[in-house]
Amino acid sequence: MTETPPSAVLADDAAYAEAVQLAVDSAAAYYADGTSALDDDAYDRLVRGIQAYEEAHPEAVLPSSPTGKVAGGAVVGDVPHTVPMLSLDNVFGTDQLADWAAGLERRLGHPVTAWSVEPKLDGLAISARYRHGRLAQLVTRGDGAAGEDVSHAIGTIVGLPDRLVDPVTVELRGEVMMTTTQFEEACAKRQAHDGTTFANPRSAAAGTLRAQDRPYVCELTFFAYGVLPPSGDDSELAVRLRELPHSEIMRWVATQGVQTTAATPVAGIVAETLERVGERVAEIAAARAGLPFGIDGIVIKCDLAGDQVEAGFSSRAPRWAIAYKLPATEKITKLLAVEWNTGRTGIIAPRAVLEPVELDGSVVTYATLHNVADITRRGLMIGDNVVVYKAGDVIPRVESPVVHLRTGEEQPIAIPEVCPSCGDAIDSSQERWRCVRGRGCRAIASIVYAVGRDTLDIEGLAENRIKQMLDAGLISDFADLFTLTREQLLALERMGETSTDNLLAAIERAKRQPLSRVFCALGVRGTGRSMSRRVARHFATMDAIRAADAEAIQQVEGMGPEKAPVVVDELIELAPLIDKLVAAGVNMTEPGATPPAAEGVRPSEAAAPVAELPLAGLAVVVTGSMTGKLGTLSRNEMNELIERAGGKASSSVSAKTSLLVAGDKAGSKRAKAESLGVRIVDPEEFATQVSAFL
Ligand code: IVH
Repeated sequence: MTETPPSAVLADDAAYAEAVQLAVDSAAAYYADGTSALDDDAYDRLVRGIQAYEEAHPEAVLPSSPTGKVAGGAVVGDVPHTVPMLSLDNVFGTDQLADWAAGLERRLGHPVTAWSVEPKLDGLAISARYRHGRLAQLVTRGDGAAGEDVSHAIGTIVGLPDRLVDPVTVELRGEVMMTTTQFEEACAKRQAHDGTTFANPRSAAAGTLRAQDRPYVCELTFFAYGVLPPSGDDSELAVRLRELPHSEIMRWVATQGVQTTAATPVAGIVAETLERVGERVAEIAAARAGLPFGIDGIVIKCDLAGDQVEAGFSSRAPRWAIAYKLPATEKITKLLAVEWNTGRTGIIAPRAVLEPVELDGSVVTYATLHNVADITRRGLMIGDNVVVYKAGDVIPRVESPVVHLRTGEEQPIAIPEVCPSCGDAIDSSQERWRCVRGRGCRAIASIVYAVGRDTLDIEGLAENRIKQMLDAGLISDFADLFTLTREQLLALERMGETSTDNLLAAIERAKRQPLSRVFCALGVRGTGRSMSRRVARHFATMDAIRAADAEAIQQVEGMGPEKAPVVVDELIELAPLIDKLVAAGVNMTEPGATPPAAEGVRPSEAAAPVAELPLAGLAVVVTGSMTGKLGTLSRNEMNELIERAGGKASSSVSAKTSLLVAGDKAGSKRAKAESLGVRIVDPEEFATQVSAFL
């Protein structure tokens, strides 16, 4: 698993002093309003470097050093905490976790038999003080000893009720954050107000929590992760809160109407063994990219009150808990340039060229910038430090510039005035700019896509051959391929009798491809291979697809309200091409699928019964190289097979995966499936299971 990330290397006392100053400034900015010149990773690296230097040069330690201090020594707020709000020590990877657990068990003198494993929520720690069941005061963590009163935010935080169910006096500790939706709404409000946006949900939550006189209100979310009885209180509740396991206390908090992570896919669990802890860590890590809120790790705690008391605290953190850090999904790096490319549908897309940065386990050099309006909205400039986000399988994207790191050397981004591919005019009437030639601009790219192995699979039709046909005026789109004559092909240079006959036979075979592949070949914006299969299975015929309005298209699984109208528009634009295909005798039906029935009947009710199919209801992932009967199938063909047999093909293993088909050299997906207890079969066994569909 992951290793400890590197630390900054400090050469001398001067470099050390500079590093301390930078860390102190960053911590102050971070705890003040969530902005910082350094992302979390860079800050941690810096502090580790400072620590290493101090160990080697104890005489040089500066009093302002952030090491060993809560919140890096940033002092904010004047409301003393009843019990200090501490930090958590970190581990990176399972080996370090095992070392930490072994050390703790040695200290306790006995094994730990109950671990609480929960998400590390990526927001801000807050203390919520309830008196007789009423929310009386909200205090930030500040420097851990005292925080700032932010009670003005009461009433704007989902999950933190003004009143508890029982009239009890307790202090809740938890995380205030913004969900993805809340973040988007907050950005839109700020955009409308002053034309700027927030860098990320965390800083948006920090800024919002402290903001008092904003003319707009942004909603926040709270998740509790701990409860403290008032000190000196020996009521029955207080005694119970001191004695119950952490997991039971969290169940009690939920009964009081306070939000916990219990209802989320990453709910806290109690693990009896370290092995089970490791499994839950893998499950939470796997669920991360799909969560509606940010997490930056997993917190592992002793569940039993007795263990916690025995383990105690260091000056910075409890000894009974540890944060298992996940790789960063967001980092700051430099925007070096912007490239403009015209895609096969004629869309002109800007792409950011970045100083390479490691994000969620891979090195990112390019990131999407969506469109011109987006660049303008974000006020990006070449040379800017930018926040880049990437998690799971998502395409890396540039979120925002870090305006306070500007040096004055930044340059405006040059916006193209003509199509970067053909030099013709740009249609800028829509948010996504497009070459006025539309698909015609990069006809060659559209045709290469349409005839590829995963679409019409016309063997022997390489890109240079397509170019030759385009130049000779024989074709202008892929439908023209179906009306090519033997004579026309023979007249082309380097085209002999045998290759001509082979190509004509391949074109003839392509006419019988299922609708899913024909539809995919059209290259409808927003629909790739798997969406094309879903569309084809849902509608069964091209006529039914063309007759559908946006609402009907939206019935297809995974088709959101934004994509559906685009598909409708695209089908109108593609109508002449589709007509040509129909006229050429290309198949327009999906084998085994039934068209949705008359109005008022839900398509799922009208569809053929799927329950008896061998993979009905199963989410299947394929990994490694296939052998035996499946040896010749591409990944796309495997996915088609899975779906013909009633299953759902997906590319990544998660807690929702039902079956993993693991061939030779299966790597991380197999390991993940094993840790999640997902059923694993080899290609031979799978081939037998779906033999009727091969
Ligand atoms: S328990 C004594 N549980 O992480 C500190 N903290 O890096 C006990 N955090 O300040 C904290 N999720 O703001 C705990 N499930 C969780 C958490 C969590 C996020 C935050 C918390 C803390 C910080 C430490």
